Amino acid sequence: METIEFEHPLARSILTRMRDRDTGPDEFRRLAHRMGFMLAVEATRNIRTAPMHVETPMEPTLGETTVDSPVIMPVLRAGLGILAPFQELLPDSKVAFVALRRDEDTGRPDWLYDSVPDLAGSQVIVLDPMLATAGTASAVLDYLADAGVRETTLVSVVAAPEGIHRLGAYENLTVITVSVDRELDGRWFILPGLGDFGDRLYN
Ligand code: PRP
Ligand code: URA
Repeated sequence: METIEFEHPLARSILTRMRDRDTGPDEFRRLAHRMGFMLAVEATRNIRTAPMHVETPMEPTLGETTVDSPVIMPVLRAGLGILAPFQELLPDSKVAFVALRRDEDTGRPDWLYDSVPDLAGSQVIVLDPMLATAGTASAVLDYLADAGVRETTLVSVVAAPEGIHRLGAYENLTVITVSVDRELDGRWFILPGLGDFGDRLYN
């Protein structure tokens, strides 16, 4: 597993406004969308291209065209908050849906729903903005391994050191996050974090 801490002043500034308890759902959704764009650029940095001839108004030249269309997999609910910018940058990608919810008493995720295309041999970009215990991420990654996925990028906004550590054993996995925060509290929430991402999105 490789962890990439996405370093960019705009991302830090957006995250600070997302953390602010006084940021309401309307602004939070806009900020999540903007953050999603920045993360989509980073998550597609190594996407493959093929040479392509193009005629400019001045002369023919050689350009490039993308040949990969990774499957995008938002983890409901929070992942929906950053799905749209990924679809805008990857318009030909299939979208695979999974829904999990952490049990408030145990911190463990319950698997609620999946609706996915055939994933065998594919490259998947998983969208889950909060990586806390990594219980949710582990369940999703095990599911993807069973489905024969070749390579996974997990896109998060805020991660806890505990969650990053837990994912260390996974192969063919890249985790992108804007911030590795300090720790989890007794209810498995990230500190300083930004609270419950799904609640902040959907009020
Ligand atoms: C949140 C978040 C992640 C998960 C992370 O989802 O969106 O999916 O918790 O926690 P973990 O790393 O400890 O598993 P939640 O279960 O609260 O559902 P929601 O997105 O519908 O709010
Ligand atoms: N899920 C969230 O939405 N926030 C946290 O701090 C931890 C898990």
